[in-house]
Amino acid sequence: RIAFVNGQYVPHQSAAVHVEDRGYQFSDGVYEVIPIVDGRQIDGVGHVERLARSLRELRIDRPMSDRALNLVIEEVVRRNRVRDGFVYIQVTRGVAARDHGFPRDAQPAVVIYARPKAADARRKAAAEGVAVITVPDQRWTRRDIKTVSLLPNCLAKQSAREAGAYEAFMVDGDGMITEGSSTNAWIVDQSGRLVTRPASSDILNGITRLALMKLARETDIEIEERPFSVEELKTAREVFLTSASGMALPVVRVDDREIGNGRPGSVSSRVVDMFERYVA
Ligand code: PDD
Repeated sequence: RIAFVNGQYVPHQSAAVHVEDRGYQFSDGVYEVIPIVDGRQIDGVGHVERLARSLRELRIDRPMSDRALNLVIEEVVRRNRVRDGFVYIQVTRGVAARDHGFPRDAQPAVVIYARPKAADARRKAAAEGVAVITVPDQRWTRRDIKTVSLLPNCLAKQSAREAGAYEAFMVDGDGMITEGSSTNAWIVDQSGRLVTRPASSDILNGITRLALMKLARETDIEIEERPFSVEELKTAREVFLTSASGMALPVVRVDDREIGNGRPGSVSSRVVDMFERYVA
């Protein structure tokens, strides 16, 4: 397998970054995960645009144009013959003698690789539904930037794993759900409307979240953007989550509480189908 590291295609095994890369020392970098279905990028443009935004917010120079970036992404997918899987892109501020302040002349460091991932696991989770737990949101206040600073997210996900759950939904200081550790959170209200937290610095504005908003506009499904509480989550008619890796997955259990009858609800299943068609 082949990875792209700072302008060169190298064997995945020996693809490495420097010990003084600021991503490694300070989490001073950003990333994207682009799903690949049947060899094609899903929403590649949206992911590349969000990467540019994350870089701008952190004042990291753009390493290459969006067009060039897209060519490399396509090349990495092609060279690795990935049909179903994902592309990982990471850009850090670069390599410099360790100092918290920005280095004066570092070049941003770019890593792009692809990994195959069978669609079976996603399809099974979509058909059966998944469990989530709730945990306190321990992150910083710029969650709209997709940085590689993911320790609170990792701790949350690990708690979920240890509880036998797929995901942890994080709860802010007011008892409202922000999002999952690597997903956006949705509920279906009593009138069948989809409810999700508005995009702000409190959450990552998911590309899959945005795709669903666009898809819903072409149907009779209504979306309401507002924060919802843990209580509302647990008593919701249906719950589901969205992300590049899972698309849409019904949630059938929250902590110790079953959602609906413990099977994916009709609205969530419809959303899952909408994505199946979207990526087909
Ligand atoms: N996670 N919220 C957080 C905190 C995320 O890390 C992600 C993505 C999402 C969903 O965004 P999108 O629909 O653009 O994937 C929401 C990726 C998949 C990851 O870290 O692997």
